[in-house]
Amino acid sequence: MQLLSPAKINLHLRVGPRAEGGFHPLLSWMCTLNLCDIIRITPTPSDHIRFTCNNPNVPTDKSNLILRAAAALHPKSGADIHLEKKIPIGGGMGGGSSNAAATLLGLNQLWNLNLTLDELSPIAAALGSDVPFFLHGPSSICQGRGERVTPIPAPQPKFAILFFPDLSMSTPAVYRKFDELNLSSDQAIYHPPDWAEWTKLPAADLLKNLINDLEPPAFSLCPQLAELREQIEDQISQIVRMSGSGSTLFTLADDQRHADQILARTKIALIRAQAFQLAPQFSLGNPGEFKAGI
Ligand code: C5P
Repeated sequence: MQLLSPAKINLHLRVGPRAEGGFHPLLSWMCTLNLCDIIRITPTPSDHIRFTCNNPNVPTDKSNLILRAAAALHPKSGADIHLEKKIPIGGGMGGGSSNAAATLLGLNQLWNLNLTLDELSPIAAALGSDVPFFLHGPSSICQGRGERVTPIPAPQPKFAILFFPDLSMSTPAVYRKFDELNLSSDQAIYHPPDWAEWTKLPAADLLKNLINDLEPPAFSLCPQLAELREQIEDQISQIVRMSGSGSTLFTLADDQRHADQILARTKIALIRAQAFQLAPQFSLGNPGEFKAGI
């Protein structure tokens, strides 16, 4: 069995004050991209789950979200799981969470567990805030800690151009800084915008509305990231935002021509820029339907 495990970006991310249990209530519009890890699962006669990865920076012990997702399904038979990592680690693109959701969906099928999405959702939420989103995708509003997921139409812009600074951000550290700076605006998460209107906006208009409340703490922890963002905005004459807790930066393009124009204008050495389809329609487990990047 081969599974596609897509990356996400947070187009919009509002964060409320730290709640009991240490987590922050969120309001976020998340979209998948056609930037995907690939997970291969082979059933084995043993009762052991063996996990390997092509990237040595991915932990392969039981802290790995793929192994935790498999364990949460109480396996009665074994499997070899191999992860081919293409999504940057520590980039705010939800790679580990996506891997966990794909594993839940894949093993549910392989082991004939017949769990419904409603039954898988609490298992996903216990694994991490972004995991429930990936059970749904490709364009959804996430609330609570991330466990309340409402699919909405895909945004009008067809491409996200990603800028990958060679920096890894720690999500807990960014949230701690957010608390320290006392930034939360309680109201924003309880007053969602008119999403139906937002999904119809072209790139330039939509970008003006988008906010990521984790940008100030991330930029405070890493001023270099703020400088990069400014440099890119100057070069491409378009708004650039950060995804999740960073470090990946992005802007939006209406179509392939627009994406090509932006890429042609990006001249910063040492930063990799690439365009990806935003909220692509492909089904998990069918890599034939997807093409990476443009
Ligand atoms: O759930 P996830 O593993 O992505 O969260 C990583 C860390 O980020 C949490 O342990 C917590 O410190 C912080 N976090 C938070 N509020 C959220 C999501 C994450 O404080 N809504």
